[in-house]
Amino acid sequence: MTNITDNIIMDDHLINQRTIWAANRFWMETENMKSKRYGGKSHHHWYLLMFFLRAFRVLLKLVGKYREGCNNAENIVIRELKLKFPDLPSKFESFTILHLSDMHFGCIPGIENIILKQLNNREVDICVITGDYLEGIHVPINSAIESLRKITEGINTRHGFLGILGNHDTCHMVAPMEDLGIRMLINEDYKLCKGSDYIQFIGTDDVHYYYTDQAMHALEKSGSDFSIALIHSPEIYDLAEKMEINLYLCGHTHGGQVCLPGGTPIIKHLNRGKQFNRGYWRYRNMQGVTNCGAGTSGIPVRFNTQGELLILKLQRG
Ligand SMILES: [Fe+2]
Repeated sequence: MTNITDNIIMDDHLINQRTIWAANRFWMETENMKSKRYGGKSHHHWYLLMFFLRAFRVLLKLVGKYREGCNNAENIVIRELKLKFPDLPSKFESFTILHLSDMHFGCIPGIENIILKQLNNREVDICVITGDYLEGIHVPINSAIESLRKITEGINTRHGFLGILGNHDTCHMVAPMEDLGIRMLINEDYKLCKGSDYIQFIGTDDVHYYYTDQAMHALEKSGSDFSIALIHSPEIYDLAEKMEINLYLCGHTHGGQVCLPGGTPIIKHLNRGKQFNRGYWRYRNMQGVTNCGAGTSGIPVRFNTQGELLILKLQRG
């Protein structure tokens, strides 16, 4: 049986790949660029978005709904899902994955304590985190890393942690996160073995703002293996299915965060795959789950949607 930290030492090829990735992503972050699989490069406008969110916060306070929204956001729940696969390797029957996403440390004060209290030391096989640790790429990372330290020390996982970056994160987080024992998959794969059986995890860089063909090449490694993709948003669902990914785990949408009564999102923050904006879904032979996220971004409120911690149980069938 392998442990995630067993072979975290990187070979030359991986170091070269990371260097090329980091140079490109750092340039995009500093220039506020975004790159989509379909649509090329353009600028994004963080500060415009922040202005609208501040105006929305003022509006909520004026109508007396702000505190209610904060209480909703702090009410984070555990959701359990059983997922069946005919080709799940037999030694991974009943394998449990804790799927965390979009914690956005700092937006909801003390969210790491709320998460740990909800989990109550419950044991899982592995914890995967599908990005968005920060409120924004231009905020200091130290306090988010400290919150992640509490998360890694407080979660009871047999095989450790895998992580990827979201569109709110910065490339500078990768090294300190790996120092915490989180194996970061930056357009990389990791095989978790049990005897002769294994499942493959493939993680990509965020594809909402920072898509590069390195993400596609990482997914190409899927082949005939049982593969779980960790991708911040559901926007490359069709590419992943073509690469024969079995399970696509993502977040990013916050389930809408602020929804109309009945749970219809006002904004989905997706360019593609809008039908996969929350919960369990299928696309042809691939199953997927879009996590509504634990945290919030912009303002610490939710309406008609709930923050969640997902526990996924894999079964043959
Ligand atoms: Fe997010």
